[in-house]
Amino acid sequence: MLILNKAAGVFSKPSRREIFEFLRSFNFRPGNVFLHKLVLGIETSCDDTAAAVVDETGNVLGEAIHSQTEVHLKTGGIVPPVAQQLHRENIQRIVQEALSTSKVSPSELSAIATTVKPGLALSLGVGLSFSLQLVDQLKKPFIPIHHMEAHALTIRLLNKVEFPFLVLLISGGHCLLALVRGVSDFLLLGKSLDIAPGDMLDKVARRLSLIKHPECSTMSGGKAIEHLAKQGNKLHFDFKPPMQRAKNCDFSFTGLQHVIDKIITQKEKEEGIQKGQILSSAAHIAAAVQHTTACHIAKRTHRAILFCKQRDLLSQSNAVLVVSGGVASNLYIRKALEIVTNATQCTLLCPPPKLCTDNGIMIA
Ligand code: KG4
Ligand code: ZN
Repeated sequence: MLILNKAAGVFSKPSRREIFEFLRSFNFRPGNVFLHKLVLGIETSCDDTAAAVVDETGNVLGEAIHSQTEVHLKTGGIVPPVAQQLHRENIQRIVQEALSTSKVSPSELSAIATTVKPGLALSLGVGLSFSLQLVDQLKKPFIPIHHMEAHALTIRLLNKVEFPFLVLLISGGHCLLALVRGVSDFLLLGKSLDIAPGDMLDKVARRLSLIKHPECSTMSGGKAIEHLAKQGNKLHFDFKPPMQRAKNCDFSFTGLQHVIDKIITQKEKEEGIQKGQILSSAAHIAAAVQHTTACHIAKRTHRAILFCKQRDLLSQSNAVLVVSGGVASNLYIRKALEIVTNATQCTLLCPPPKLCTDNGIMIA
């Protein structure tokens, strides 16, 4: 590197100190390229208050998250005003923590991105009003983010995934299959006609009182089901996957939930125990519900892949299926999807569990 010696009007070799100062002027960090654009992402659509700072090349500079799971586990589900209050109590601290771990001052930000939909109105409102205040104070641009699009695109932080690709989003609030043709160009192929799979698993876990199970007391419903299923026999109960004859890519989980509810009531009678006590067959029920959920999700996804390939909407040889959302962290469900992608010559990509669930990085 040569620098201009202003007094002499000639180029000379700079000292180490001059090089260091030159690099510092570009906001240089070891291991990263020059950082020009830094985006603060804020997420409050459901029950996580999350924030992160990401640069334009996808480097995560820092993040922070506050999960409300423990509180909602105690009340047996998300109570929107409670979620709103917890977001209010934590948002300032979480944003501050994301900025300080990133070693970025608010004035260095290029923009603030925030989830604006879909989600719980009361929860979304907290992130939105906090962000708009910040935007106004700092005079920075605001980027409204669609929560589902953020989930679908997160994989591109880690893998070089070309458009188009297929995405399956399965969580407590979402269940959809879509063809992603561009950053904001989505073709919806199927969705749940009633509740999301995570919601169903949460309801089953609550009905089984897994919060009282010593191994599962701090786990979300879906995680508790996955944990307990390892100790059970999935063939002990024969639950039929829903919508076997439906010629589309939609999902349904309410029917399955009611069937399981009836079985639990019947077993409680047989075992002579009260509602709220743990059944001796809880692990078998967990294994069977996880298996049936995995079969249903895998079958609907198989239909979507075949549909896209038949219509040349996806590459015949290089098609990619991205699976994300809280339920995507379930390894049994991932295995079922792997069978489908192997049989259809597709590549299955899942972000790591931390990026499957709601977070600030995906918004930034
Ligand atoms: O994406 P997420 O954090 O929040 C939204 O719903 O948007 O997903 C949370 C959902 C909960 O219903 C939870 O029970 C489920 O994901 N979940 C799981 C697992 N871990 C979390 N479901 C099945 N297996 C898991 N290991
Ligand atoms: Zn989500």
